[in-house]
Formats: sequence, C-alpha cells, structure tokens
Amino acid sequence: MKNIAIFASGSGSNAENIIKYFANSSDVNVALVATNKSDAYVIERAQRLGVPTYIFNKATLSSSTEVLDELKRYSIDYVVLAGFLLLVPPFIIHEYAGKIVNIHPALLPNYGGAGMYGDRVHKAVKEAGEEFTGITIHNVNEKFDDGDIIFQAKCDVAEQDTPDDIASKVHALEYEHFPRVIEEHIAKVFVN
Ligand code: GRF
Repeated sequence: MKNIAIFASGSGSNAENIIKYFANSSDVNVALVATNKSDAYVIERAQRLGVPTYIFNKATLSSSTEVLDELKRYSIDYVVLAGFLLLVPPFIIHEYAGKIVNIHPALLPNYGGAGMYGDRVHKAVKEAGEEFTGITIHNVNEKFDDGDIIFQAKCDVAEQDTPDDIASKVHALEYEHFPRVIEEHIAKVFVN
C-alpha cells in the first residue's frame, strides 16, 4: 500500500474525486490532505470523507521542515498537487524525486507558468481564440508547470464557450483521467 498526500489550495473537487476513486483500493491510500489556505473548501471535503487534514502557510512550507516532517509522520510515499498554488521547495522535491505530480488545466507548455492558474488560464485560452484546450499531468520540478509531461488530454473550445464553459470541460477531463493516471504512475514509479 502506498500512502499519498494531496495538496490543494481551493475548492478541492479533484481532491474529492481522487479520494473517492481510491476509497476501496488496496494499492493506494489517500492518507492526508494538505493546504496552505485555512478557509479552503477542500478541508470540508476531506473531513467529510474522513481524510486527515493539515494546514500550513507559505513561510512554513519554504523555510522550515515542518511540512516535510508532517509527510513523514503520515508515511507519505507520493504527493499529488491538485489546484495547489505555491511552489514546492527544492528540498521536498528532492526528497520525493519523481514522486510529485501536478495537474494543470491547459495543454502545457502553453498557458502555464507563474500566475497562470484557475480562471486566468481559461480566459487566456479564450482570448487567444484557441480551438482546443485540455489538461496536463506532469512531474513537479522547481519551476511552475515545467516538469516532464506524463499525460495530456484535449477537448474542443467552441466559439461561443465562455471561460466558465471551458473550465467545466476541463474539469470533466480532470475527473475522468487524473485518478487513473495517478494510479498508473504510482504502479510505474514503485515497480520494485
Ligand atoms: C483544477 O482545474 C486544476 O487543474 C487546477 O486548479 C483547479 C482546481 O480545481 N490546477 P479543484 O480545487 O480541484 O476543484
């Protein structure tokens, strides 16, 4: 059994979807939901689903070992970023080399990087007149949205789609693919 921690800063609908997907798994246990926002709705979702939560702040994450210590306390093997808005510090990335994944709501390398999150991504896609957008699941490195791509899926952007419509299509792709891609990636990473 591999223990995973989900890091999220907001609503946490992906976190909820992942928790439910692995609820009866004998391979993966969602052991912790961690957030940097004390009022994030993800906390309620996790509590409702019986998953422990941990709240920290930006300084704690980057300038202390508290977050890493918490991951160790829960014997976390693998970390999933699902709507997590802070940069993961190098010492945590090194500790979990190749074992931290992020989901980005666009087709990287386009519409990624610092400041490209949430609705800003969908507005930029709309303003550029793109015919397609999608999701990217990638390994996390020391930059925003920059690590090796593990999986992408596309959806169309219709001329009349608003940024909210695009967000709905992208969320549907996230719910469909993210848990399975995590499952497959964990099986691959921990093959020995
Ligand atoms: C998702 O679209 C994810 O790709 C992005 O932030 C959003 C989080 O949504 N990084 P939720 O909090 O999982 O509902």
